[in-house]
Amino acid sequence: MNKDWRVSNRVLKIKKSAIHEMTRLSKEIEDVAFLSWAKPTSDTPDHIKKAAINAIKKGLVGGYSENAGIIELRKEIAKKLKRDNNIQADVSQLVVTIGAVEGLSSAIMALIDPGDEIILPSPTYSTHIRQVIIGSGKPVLVPTIEEEGFILDIDAIRKAITPKTKAIIYCSPSNPTGTVFVEKILRQLADIALENNLMIITDEAYEYFTYDGYKHFSIASIPEMKQNVISCFTFTKSYAMTGWRIGYLHADETLIPQIKKAHIPFAICAPVVSQYAALGALKGSQDCIEQFKQHYLSARNLMCRRLDELSSVFDYQKPRGSYLMFPKILLEEGTDSTAFCKNLLKEAKVSATPGIAFGSTGESHLRLSFCVTEEMIKKAFDRMEKYFKL
Ligand SMILES: Cc1ncc(COP(=O)(O)O)c(C=O)c1O
Repeated sequence: MNKDWRVSNRVLKIKKSAIHEMTRLSKEIEDVAFLSWAKPTSDTPDHIKKAAINAIKKGLVGGYSENAGIIELRKEIAKKLKRDNNIQADVSQLVVTIGAVEGLSSAIMALIDPGDEIILPSPTYSTHIRQVIIGSGKPVLVPTIEEEGFILDIDAIRKAITPKTKAIIYCSPSNPTGTVFVEKILRQLADIALENNLMIITDEAYEYFTYDGYKHFSIASIPEMKQNVISCFTFTKSYAMTGWRIGYLHADETLIPQIKKAHIPFAICAPVVSQYAALGALKGSQDCIEQFKQHYLSARNLMCRRLDELSSVFDYQKPRGSYLMFPKILLEEGTDSTAFCKNLLKEAKVSATPGIAFGSTGESHLRLSFCVTEEMIKKAFDRMEKYFKL
């Protein structure tokens, strides 16, 4: 291999992001129907922007904050975790982070040693896999059960545990499948963690977006799990705050000083202006969350109806959460999801993300985002119907 001597083996092991590659290719083509981004298309609500502007005017944002985040924000987060997640949180158990992503990175850095094995039910959010590699850990991808809606395969997780296993990382509601891991199954996962002294790291970015009576469950709400969980949350999805880069993590108070040792060298603290915006988000009206949810629900229903009309091309599991779904490509050429998506982009001007981007178990699939306007969904599916000559 022609190794670049300047670059670490850790980083060389990381594959180029298929999501960014598709974005780059999409930009070369005019008028693309975009179903490949997982970011909210709405703008941040006004009252949140105003909270940030007020903090700027008052001169509150020019310096660093406490490493763990401003105390007023941590107090509001603790209230929210009690109210919405049934987690008995205290300010001493919280670190405000640069989005969920920096929280996850800090958690992984704080927990794992080189060579530790980390189980990831897959397909999964590709960033988690990269974070484990950057932390010098070994990602162990354990397939979920697709036919039952990509649910956790508890037996397979048990079988994947070795003396080197340190943690399990999952996101629920899931990116990319839209699966909501239900309480009953997460309680079984908790038992596994307790029996084997494993840590659980959660990514709960889509906590509020669940449909059809499915409920989000936070594994940290199980009192016995107090020592074994780091839960990562974000303002990105709930309040359309992608660019503010603000989130937080919750863990046992005895772990927080260790997690801060990983957080500080990367961040010192989360952006202070964004911390004030987040405070505005938690203190203000929560209506935007319900509005986003209703929009995603009707967009999901439309996307499922349109997929039903393409049943010779795609098979799919109905997503019960997030704003993403992960149809299986039934055509021969689907076995190479990257080539399939590149062709779809070039020939039909529809941008989707190749399933391989979410681990090898994602091959022969593509990820579609319904966090777009209904017009965009119609445009994309009209084009696909024509392309597949239906
Ligand atoms: C599962 C999941 N976690 C985290 C993120 C990013 O979160 P943040 O912007 O808070 O870093 C995303 C963004 O798409 C995501 O899908």
